[in-house]
Amino acid sequence: MSEGDVLLEVRDLCVVYESLDARIRAVDHVDLTLRRGETLALVGESGCGKSTLGNAIIGILPANAEVSGEILFEGVNIVSLPRKRMRRIRWEKIAMVFQNAQNSLDPTLRVGDQLVEVILAHRSIPRVEAQRRVKELFSLVGLPPDYYRSYPHELSGGSRQRVIIAMALLLNPQLLIADEPTTGLDVSVQLQILNLLKDIKQRFQMSMIFITHDIAVANYVSDRMAVMYAGQIVEAAPSQALLAKPLHPYTIALTESLLTLDRRVKKQPIAGFPPDLSKTITGCRFAERCRFAVDECRREEPPMVDVDGRVSKCFFAEQISNKVVGYDYRGD
Ligand SMILES: Nc1ncnc2c1ncn2[C@@H]1O[C@H](COP(=O)(O)OP(=O)(O)OP(=O)(O)O)[C@@H](O)[C@H]1O
Ligand SMILES: [Mg+2]
Repeated sequence: MSEGDVLLEVRDLCVVYESLDARIRAVDHVDLTLRRGETLALVGESGCGKSTLGNAIIGILPANAEVSGEILFEGVNIVSLPRKRMRRIRWEKIAMVFQNAQNSLDPTLRVGDQLVEVILAHRSIPRVEAQRRVKELFSLVGLPPDYYRSYPHELSGGSRQRVIIAMALLLNPQLLIADEPTTGLDVSVQLQILNLLKDIKQRFQMSMIFITHDIAVANYVSDRMAVMYAGQIVEAAPSQALLAKPLHPYTIALTESLLTLDRRVKKQPIAGFPPDLSKTITGCRFAERCRFAVDECRREEPPMVDVDGRVSKCFFAEQISNKVVGYDYRGD
């Protein structure tokens, strides 16, 4: 891979939330690479740090968050960038569809006008030109032109999400981070929004980080997946390869709940709970819930192991790959 192919590189990123009585290590030594034109899905259970990682990349974290490590966007470390320079990157180069973003639309303003204001805050162009751009984007995301004059409460959930997506695209970003953009929508509407995101990513020639707890959704939209568990990435691979042959026991558990879904059996959540991120964790973070765990797993943190160009943070990654461990669940 040549340097020019890489759009974003996250190196050894840690985000700790400080509160009066605890320090929560929400993102703990994360490395990540995103190539130009690629869609990377971040997958994992609730509370594992997905939104924190996305928010760190776009530089919107609350004041109680402490960040260390590097986020290189086009080779520039944006972690410690002065506010003014970061403002030029946020929305202009990196845009985000936030989790539950629909609630952030101003109920007192027409949606079209809200989007026009976003453009005018960043560009010195005549208002009519900004209006033209907004109408163009409405059409691109599949919203009828007269929705421009609607108030948020007059629109369906799916249409509001299209408005939010249009808003993220206003300034032609190179990277779109979409955080659970279909949660809370009807199943058929979810599929429309996923298809829309795939389509605009192609049209705008963007890269995308897609955040979801649903590995089936992740597979549908992404080229590559990174699986997060308790603040860390535990496995990363091209999506189809990862789904066909997961190399980390946590991913195996995630794909098993997917398999039961396929068979139309009620989805079984993974038994047990992730560890408390405010406590010091010894050994592998998944050990308590892992059916393959041995004593060593509880004592020592496994390294990220390279197997055939893929990575898995498990002592047994090689054995899993060679089907010595863990591969009877699909009957092959
Ligand atoms: N502002 C905050 N202050 C303190 N702790 C926080 C804050 N925001 C998130 N956390 C904690 O950080 C951890 C990671 O949260 P985060 O929202 O990043 O997870 P997530 O993977 O996006 O979860 P979900 O799937 O529910 O959206 C959780 O333990 C959460 O409680
Ligand atoms: Mg989240």
